Amino acid sequence: MASPRFTNLVRRWVPLCIITLPLLCGFAMSDFNDHIAAKRKYLSQEARKMFYHAYDNYLTYAFPHDELKPLSKSFTDSLSELGNLKLEHLPQSYNGSALTLIESLSSLVVMGNNTEFERAVLWLSENLTFDVDARISLFECNIRVLGGLVSAHLLATDSSKRLSQGKYNNELLDLANDLGRRFLWAFNTSTGLPYAWINLKHGVMEDETTETSTSGCGSLILEMGALSRLTGNPIYDAAALRALRKLWSMRSSLNLLGTTLDVETGEWLEYSSGIGAGIDSFYEYLLKAYILFGRDEFWHMFHSSYLAVQKHFRHGPWYHEADMRTGKATYWQLTSLQAFWPGLQVLVGDIPAANLTHREFFYVWKRFGVLPERYLLDRAMLHPTEKYYPLRPELAESTLYLYQATKDPWYIDVGESIMKSLNMYTKVDGGFASIRDVSTMQLEDHQHSFFLAETCKYLYLLFDSSFLASENYVFTTEGHPLPVRSSWHDWLPDVSMPTDVTSVKINNLSTKSSALSSQICPALLATLKEDQPVESACHIHDGRASHRCESHEECGIDSTTCRQRSCSLAGYCGLWLLI
Ligand SMILES: *[C@@H]1O[C@H](CO)[C@@H](O)[C@H](O)[C@H]1NC(C)=O
Ligand SMILES: *[C@@H]1O[C@H](CO)[C@@H](O)[C@H](O)[C@H]1NC(C)=O
Ligand SMILES: *[C@@H]1O[C@H](CO)[C@@H](O)[C@H](O)[C@H]1NC(C)=O
Ligand SMILES: *[C@@H]1O[C@H](CO)[C@@H](O)[C@H](O)[C@H]1NC(C)=O
Ligand SMILES: *[C@@H]1O[C@H](CO)[C@@H](O)[C@H](O)[C@H]1NC(C)=O
Ligand SMILES: *[C@@H]1O[C@H](CO)[C@@H](O)[C@H](O)[C@H]1NC(C)=O
Repeated sequence: MASPRFTNLVRRWVPLCIITLPLLCGFAMSDFNDHIAAKRKYLSQEARKMFYHAYDNYLTYAFPHDELKPLSKSFTDSLSELGNLKLEHLPQSYNGSALTLIESLSSLVVMGNNTEFERAVLWLSENLTFDVDARISLFECNIRVLGGLVSAHLLATDSSKRLSQGKYNNELLDLANDLGRRFLWAFNTSTGLPYAWINLKHGVMEDETTETSTSGCGSLILEMGALSRLTGNPIYDAAALRALRKLWSMRSSLNLLGTTLDVETGEWLEYSSGIGAGIDSFYEYLLKAYILFGRDEFWHMFHSSYLAVQKHFRHGPWYHEADMRTGKATYWQLTSLQAFWPGLQVLVGDIPAANLTHREFFYVWKRFGVLPERYLLDRAMLHPTEKYYPLRPELAESTLYLYQATKDPWYIDVGESIMKSLNMYTKVDGGFASIRDVSTMQLEDHQHSFFLAETCKYLYLLFDSSFLASENYVFTTEGHPLPVRSSWHDWLPDVSMPTDVTSVKINNLSTKSSALSSQICPALLATLKEDQPVESACHIHDGRASHRCESHEECGIDSTTCRQRSCSLAGYCGLWLLI
């Protein structure tokens, strides 16, 4: 670990090295890099320990049930409780689907444990069934179960030969296909928007609620699109795309969407909107679907949404909520889920904005020890009933993206600090427990499966990115990697809406080391110096912040048009064309 003095020395010397004395400083820099490498190595082992503490305890006390209760060292069959706040219509007899095992599959691969991956794949191949009388959330089951299976199938069948030859015969894909078919019941609505809940055995229940969330309809395309491409059956992709298009058609004139809606009437129920709960993964899936499937339509929707978000929700580094119709602020609240946003901004190439927001979230993390679920910005206090921290991954996730994009060792320190807090406050003998109240650090008897699928994985990847070097991956909102393959880009006949001809493609993703580092203008990025900040057109400047300039060069590249941004006569950087 770095002593403060060493760190200060480095902070002072490194910029100087870069600017003035590359030769003389060569030795100091290589020492510094060795130091970072050693530190990352040590921390990756700590992250690995964390994962196995969670995983082994799950196997011992909970498997094949869904999730571990780490305090009582028992289990919970929680699949039908996910997203089910009022715990309605719980199954009479349901003994779990090994949810945490499914969620751990890709993490085992990321950590290089092929033996255990094989054991888990074979167990699931023989024992998992979806013919169970359980009502589940389409959204949760899609991102956790379908995503876990599809990703594991891809990892089991890529060129790495992780499994013993002949042992695996696409059983996970068959299971995913079976689950996908059950999902289709939810889409049988007049609007094409899917019901939020289905019974895996019987389909949509009588008198089922027609209320769902924007995320519930808008974050299915990665998993269902991948399933279509793997099975050759376009129906899953078509169902998810139809829902997404319908959702997009419901946007306001400000290009904003609400957070809850009715799937039969296609009307909004909640107009207040933001980047957190109920809508977060909608934005995420638009951009990631564009990277994975390459349709301009996705980029077009993403770009319009992103600009609208930056314009209407952003307040300095924070994002508040606003009415989708008027853009008027509704709630001034920071929520733990919003911490994924900087990670998404890295994918767009909007590094300065990502850095700014990430720093604020980390500041809140340090203040409370973890991130509270909801914090009232206007009253500077915790939300009275949402004081919990259920081992969420979003801050670690954004830290990983920022580190990948900048290689700034500061983000390694952030990851170390996050891991330390998790070990200090949430580690118990029987696993990792959620925090019920961040003001008292009182624990709750629940280890969520996403702790293994995401939190541990993102921390590990921050410290050891060897997995990312093997292929380009897009991570689903549940942290399951899907490889970016050019054959997936032109798979379906293009039935997309007419798109804006000016929308820009991400060039040659396949030549980059990882989708994590993908930028809009890779060719231009290559010519920039490593420490030179890159801004994108998506970045909307604060009126207050001065972006004064004397020359066009100071204004950087507009990463949407890939053109040089210009310095106006009045001396401000802008998007206007060069005169
Ligand atoms: C669940 O387990 C209980 C106790 O072992 C058993 O009685 C019940 O039949 C099982 N239910 C199902 C659906 O397998
Ligand atoms: C793989 O996981 C199993 C189960 O946790 C563990 O016993 C084994 O040591 C792991 N192997 C490696 C190489 O980490
Ligand atoms: C399926 O489950 C049973 C009961 O847990 C177990 O004995 C069997 O080995 C499992 N199948 C595989 C391939 O692991
Ligand atoms: C779709 O819904 C309609 C009307 O509720 C129903 O009559 C029909 O059987 C459903 N189709 C399927 C395939 O479930
Ligand atoms: C992030 O922000 C900090 C504080 O403003 C700054 O020192 C650092 O250089 C920034 N890093 C990047 C990559 O923009
Ligand atoms: C894009 O990728 C293709 C195939 O990998 C390669 O042949 C081509 O040279 C790349 N183009 C650029 C501009 O990097």
